[in-house]
Amino acid sequence: MVRHFLTLNDFSSEEIRRLISTAEKLKVGKEKSKILKDKNIAAIFEKPSTRTRVSFEVAVSQLGGNFIFLRGDELQISRGEPVKDTARVLGRYVDGIVARVYKHDDLVELAKYSGIPVINALSNLYHPCQVLADLLTIKEKKKKLEGLKLAYIGDGNNVCNSLLIGCTKIGLNISIGSPKRYEPKKEIVEKAKRNAEKSGAEVEIINSPQEAVRNADIVYTDVFLSMGDEIEREERMKTFLPDFQVNAKLLENTSPEAIVMHCLPAHRGQEITDDVLEGKQSVVWNQAENRLHAQKAIFIHLF
Ligand code: CP
Ligand code: NVA
Repeated sequence: MVRHFLTLNDFSSEEIRRLISTAEKLKVGKEKSKILKDKNIAAIFEKPSTRTRVSFEVAVSQLGGNFIFLRGDELQISRGEPVKDTARVLGRYVDGIVARVYKHDDLVELAKYSGIPVINALSNLYHPCQVLADLLTIKEKKKKLEGLKLAYIGDGNNVCNSLLIGCTKIGLNISIGSPKRYEPKKEIVEKAKRNAEKSGAEVEIINSPQEAVRNADIVYTDVFLSMGDEIEREERMKTFLPDFQVNAKLLENTSPEAIVMHCLPAHRGQEITDDVLEGKQSVVWNQAENRLHAQKAIFIHLF
C-alpha cells in the first residue's frame, strides 16, 4: 500500500519515534542511504519557500534521486486543470510528489489519484515536516520528549496544528496561548485530545501567553500572518501586538533553561524580538538544519 506523509496523525507514536531515530542516525552519519537511486521526485510549490524547498532538494540529491521543481503558477493547474488530472499524469512519470499548497484537500486529491507517495510540504492545515524536525531538535536539546511542556504562543495556524498533533502523539504536554478567535480549530484540538488520551500528554488552549509559558521547557512561536492571510494584516497586528510577542519579558515567566523555537521565516518586532531570536535560548538554526535530516528520514520511511 502506498503511504503518504500528509499529517503526523496518520502515523503511530512508534513510527514517529522511528522517524526521529532515523533522522538522528542520518545526521551523525551512522546511517547512509541511496533509497531514491534512479527515482524522480516532483515538487509542486504554490507558495514561496526557502528551507523546505532547499532541504528537500538536497535530501533527494543525497539519497541518490532527481528533484523536479514545479512552480504552481507554471503548471496547468494555475489555468484550471483539475488536481486529480495532474495527479494521474505525474504518477505516470515520477516516483513521489512533494507539495506545498493553499488547500489541504488538494494534497488529499494528489494522494488519492497519483498512486505514488505524496509529502505535505505545508498546507493551510498542517506543516508535518516542520514538526518532525522540531521534535528531533527538542530531543537533541532536552535529551527526551515525553513529559516536557511546549508552549506555543500566537496564531492557531498550520504549524500550531502540527505541533498539537505531533506533541500529543508522543506524550509531550502542549499549551497554546492564542488570542480569542485565533485559537486552533476545534476539530484539530479534538484530534489532539484523542491522541493525548493514549499518550498521557496534557493539552491546554488558553488566551494568556503568561500562563501558557509557565513551567514550559520549550517556547515556540510562528508568524501572525501566514502565507495567504496577508489581507488580514491590520486586524491581526492589532490583535496580536503587544501581548502575543515572544520577548524577554514574556520569558521571565518561565525557566532560563527553556529553549525558544520558531519555524522561520521570523518577523523581528512582531511575533518575536530580535534579542530573543538571536539570544542564548534560541535554537532556531538547529531547527532549520534538522529539516534536511527529518526529510531524508521521511523518504526512507515511505520508499
Ligand atoms: N519553515 C519553513 O517551512 O520555511 P520555508 O517557508 O522557507 O520553507
Ligand atoms: N505559518 C506559516 C509557516 C511558514 C513556514 C505560513 O503558513 O506561512
